Amino acid sequence: MDKKNQHFETKAVRIQSETSQHREHSVPIYATSSFVFQDAEQARALFADEEEGNIYTRFSNPNNNEFVDKLCALEETEDGVATASGMSAMFISMAAFLRSGDHILASRSLFGSTHQILTQLFPRWGITHTYVNVHAPLEVWERNIQANTKMIFVETPSNPGLDLIDLEALGKLSRQHNIIFNVDNCFATPYLQNPARWGAHIVTHSATKFIDGQGRAIGGAVLGTKALMQEVRFLARHTGPALSPFNGWILSKSLETLAVRMEKHCEHALALSEFLENHEEVIHVNYPFLPSHPQYTLAKKQMRLGGGLVTFELKGGVERGKRFLNALKMLSFTANLGDTRTIATHPASTTHSKLSDEERAAVGITPGLVRISVGLEHLEDIKTDLVQAIEHSR
Ligand SMILES: Cc1ncc(COP(=O)(O)O)c(C=O)c1O
Repeated sequence: MDKKNQHFETKAVRIQSETSQHREHSVPIYATSSFVFQDAEQARALFADEEEGNIYTRFSNPNNNEFVDKLCALEETEDGVATASGMSAMFISMAAFLRSGDHILASRSLFGSTHQILTQLFPRWGITHTYVNVHAPLEVWERNIQANTKMIFVETPSNPGLDLIDLEALGKLSRQHNIIFNVDNCFATPYLQNPARWGAHIVTHSATKFIDGQGRAIGGAVLGTKALMQEVRFLARHTGPALSPFNGWILSKSLETLAVRMEKHCEHALALSEFLENHEEVIHVNYPFLPSHPQYTLAKKQMRLGGGLVTFELKGGVERGKRFLNALKMLSFTANLGDTRTIATHPASTTHSKLSDEERAAVGITPGLVRISVGLEHLEDIKTDLVQAIEHSR
């Protein structure tokens, strides 16, 4: 059977580390800091990169290799590096290529810590950035490219606005201008969207979200061409944001069920968004696969399904949002997403409370906006809790 032509689900289940002499069916956890050399010649060859193999877990480990091999197959990329968190993945995917005097062009709707890297950390090292609003047409992206622009960085769908970026358009633009195009694909996962197909050179992940999918482990990955990953691997090897083998094992196991979990997350999220769209206390619902989403056509083009997140604007602004969260009985109120458990958050009073109204509006956060990471409980139970919390927060 030609393994290259296997389906997504088969690759996610069947790509495995080599079986040991114990003939185990499920891959064990390689809890070891280092690997033994057979002799001096092998040690020399491994360090000289003449022979492939594990030396030290900060560089590589069978569990982390398996996790990355699977992700590369699912994202259609050549090579990758596993990292201790999504943020270390974001950081090294940029820091490996940017030098003092370089410029990065990014979508304004970025995860908070990525925003801190661009606005607080990189300026210390002489790296500047320009933000482009998520709804800006392609001409605005092109107009903001400078002679020193080395990278375009985006997230799509964005958090929490669920706005989309046209991956094909930016993929073409970055190639025309010889700029590295880096996409944080954490919200979509490789099951829903493959940025490399549309021209992304680098695909980054927080594996902490839907890839783990059960709220247990922090991890991340940087994926791309062999040539680019050499630079990323060099930085990772010598600065040490290595994934623990235990988390590598969890995350690789999680990929085995990614397709079935994402199907269910998306089925629930679509049903819930259709239901909320008809609720009298709800002003507006945002979900990429709702025909009312302003970028519905683009969503259908570049995503397989609409994703596991839904946002909606409740009547009554910030105070109503807070009352709604306090009235929830089953849904979790926690700083994560992509879990089996449904999670509700109110960005205006929590994650984005320090921004001005204008800054919040620029990234799609209205006062009563509630974000739901739709889980895998029975849909009727999720709905029941949402409806009672909407009623009790009036
Ligand atoms: C879009 C996005 N990128 C990156 C991250 C950072 O990932 P981690 O928490 O695994 O470091 C997150 C996490 O919340 C995220 O939502």
